[in-house]
Amino acid sequence: MRMVVLGLGYLGATHAACMAELGHEVLGIEVIPEKRAQLAAGEVPFYEPGLPELLRRHIDSGTLRVSDSYAEAADFADVFFIAVGTPQKKGEYSADLTFVDAAVEELVPLLSRDALILGKSTVPVGTTERLSERVDDLAKDVKVEIAWNPEFLREGYAINDTLHPDRVVLGAFGGGRAEETCREIYQKIIDENTPFLLTDPPTAELVKTSANAFLATKISFINAIAEVCEAAGADVKAIADAIGYDARIGRRFLNAGLGFGGGCLPKDIRAFMARAGELGAAEALSFLREVDNVNMRRRTRMVEVAREVCGGTLLGKRIAILGAAFKPESDDVRDSPALNVAGQIQLQGASVSVYDPRAMENSRRQFPTLDYATSAIEACEAADAVLVLTEWDEFLRLQPSDISPVVRNKNIVDGRLCLNAAAWKKDGWSYRG
Ligand code: UGA
Repeated sequence: MRMVVLGLGYLGATHAACMAELGHEVLGIEVIPEKRAQLAAGEVPFYEPGLPELLRRHIDSGTLRVSDSYAEAADFADVFFIAVGTPQKKGEYSADLTFVDAAVEELVPLLSRDALILGKSTVPVGTTERLSERVDDLAKDVKVEIAWNPEFLREGYAINDTLHPDRVVLGAFGGGRAEETCREIYQKIIDENTPFLLTDPPTAELVKTSANAFLATKISFINAIAEVCEAAGADVKAIADAIGYDARIGRRFLNAGLGFGGGCLPKDIRAFMARAGELGAAEALSFLREVDNVNMRRRTRMVEVAREVCGGTLLGKRIAILGAAFKPESDDVRDSPALNVAGQIQLQGASVSVYDPRAMENSRRQFPTLDYATSAIEACEAADAVLVLTEWDEFLRLQPSDISPVVRNKNIVDGRLCLNAAAWKKDGWSYRG
């Protein structure tokens, strides 16, 4: 089937390449010229394992093309995915829908055949309904249907999550061709016995925000337990393992540590609270404020721990920060807990040396005043404390003997509970988790 993907960021670029992989003919629309040029040349402007190979294969074969022209898009197909960003509004909790609205405003007047718009971006509940009215106003003598088909991919696993999702959710108004078209688009996925859930649009929008809110809650739950463990001298990792064996709880997303960051969970729980407030249901989601608080407290606690291991002051100390991406297998530093901690530590008078296997370029761009090293060992030179803040394999493999000769003081703080504490202690290090 022919289809268009509007917006080629993490979500759109992955979706476009994966739709081509499913056998469809895809035109991707990206308005930022540098990004577009890179993608058109088969290069991915961010780190996502496997995506460069997939993209290049489909660009080379011609099944995936990239353009900036909405007119070309309107002419090319009659199925359109909206995959543009919905960031947090500046100074507010709610989501900024400027890009979603602009995509609809630009596309619909150009349509000369009946069309189906499928939204993939994460939006506040009620968006599809609002856009549907706008679409009716903008459509010229054609029938344009809009439905929401949320995406649940994780960065770092984006291709697998798109091609083999846990479920496909479609929120449609009924009476149109959204269900039939989606079943055709995702036929190969549905044939793998992937559940296909047909709902109304508000339900589909809420499935997505509820999923992210639940994941954030799970992480903050275990981090709240971690606070109690620290006070009581108990082991939060052992608790996560023990409660995780209960199938009703499950072990995944119970890794205590520096908490969640990135371009999704933090802004999505805030937008969810803001939207609930608009709907008069603020109280129902007031617990999410605490989820956010627990999460943000992890960052300040990490700074306190760094100060404690440095003997009560950070002034004049050298701190090695291992990890800058918001999680491993990503170069994304949006709302990165690691860089937030690095910034706070620097403001308290220490000099920080940051190293990340993939996120150096993005970190330098966003936090130009931090110092950066070209390797983990270089970052650790003359360090008074080494902080592991993103659990990259490279740091898990790091042996105490690799950095013992270069540090000033053998203090290691494991911000993701990912190291072998016994091995570090055996080598004479003071280990804090
Ligand atoms: C998240 C969701 O997991 C996806 O399902 C969703 O599609 C996506 O947001 C989105 O809305 O687009 P992502 O932001 O890629 O995906 O990252 P996650 O793997 O969820 O990790 C988020 C943060 O939580 C990271 O900072 C990670 O370090 C942290 N985390 C995760 C923990 O602190 N503990 C855990 O046990 C798990």
